[in-house]
Amino acid sequence: MPDYQNILNTIYKELLAREDKGEVADYIPELAKVDKTKFGVYLNNIHGENYCVGDAKTKFSIQSISKVFTLAMAFANQGNKLWKRVDVEPSGNPFNYLALLEQEEGIPRNPLINSGAIVVADCLLSSYDDPKAELLKFVRQLANDDDIHYNDTVATSEIETGFRNFAIANLLKSFGNLENPVEDVLDFYFHQCSLEMTCEQLSNAFFPFANKGVCMQENECLTATQAKRINAIMLTCGFYDEAGEFAFEVGLPGKSGVGGGIVALLPDNFIITTWSPGLNEKGNSYLGMLALEKFTTATKASIF
Ligand code: DON
Repeated sequence: MPDYQNILNTIYKELLAREDKGEVADYIPELAKVDKTKFGVYLNNIHGENYCVGDAKTKFSIQSISKVFTLAMAFANQGNKLWKRVDVEPSGNPFNYLALLEQEEGIPRNPLINSGAIVVADCLLSSYDDPKAELLKFVRQLANDDDIHYNDTVATSEIETGFRNFAIANLLKSFGNLENPVEDVLDFYFHQCSLEMTCEQLSNAFFPFANKGVCMQENECLTATQAKRINAIMLTCGFYDEAGEFAFEVGLPGKSGVGGGIVALLPDNFIITTWSPGLNEKGNSYLGMLALEKFTTATKASIF
């Protein structure tokens, strides 16, 4: 096995010294306040070993990483019926792009762009009386950790400024692809994005995706097929119009969020989570992507 701790220490030292750390997401006013110098990495493997460096145990806004959790819930709940309302093709466009949705008559390209995640959120609203409580329960169970919460201030900040998401949800509604009122669906969607977790908690929560659907506590959270399909969607769609670049540079399925987090995993092996709030122009963590490229190059660990 590679000397993971040593490799993480080297990458951390090298990247921390970089002057260019990208730009924090300022289109969500609350996220603009986050300290850009934070940087952490956490790695765990399916045998229970773990390694960390930097701010790996500080909570941050997981944002779009939450789309993997809601997708897993909706897929487990609805099965293949879900794919009638959302497709599984990469979009090649930014996460909040509108034009494709109009062209494709309200069927989002995939569940990891905003339009797709909003449809998934609508499915959960139709399935549960209290979807926010159910999602929290599900994520806490995946991570085996009850200290995971929504941040209402971040959610409110997005409710007040998320005009593009309102446009997307209204377009979905006009095509008949939302069952619930736009305000209710977006209230849930903004709350899922406001979940705060550490690199350690995210790595633990993604354990079943690296372990054929089986959680750390050894119960089956997802079927092996569901885990396989969600990993495939992460690989092809997890980084929006940078999914090709992430596969090319890093070579792992993963998911990013505008809070600066990235989770990536090697099936049957490990999960690695990075957090650095500065983003590149595609909205993915600048240092996080660099760290993961260096990690898979140093360890030769990739699905390819
Ligand atoms: O809906 C939004 O714009 C944000 N709540 C989430 C976007 C996001 O994290 C994109 N990821 N890189």
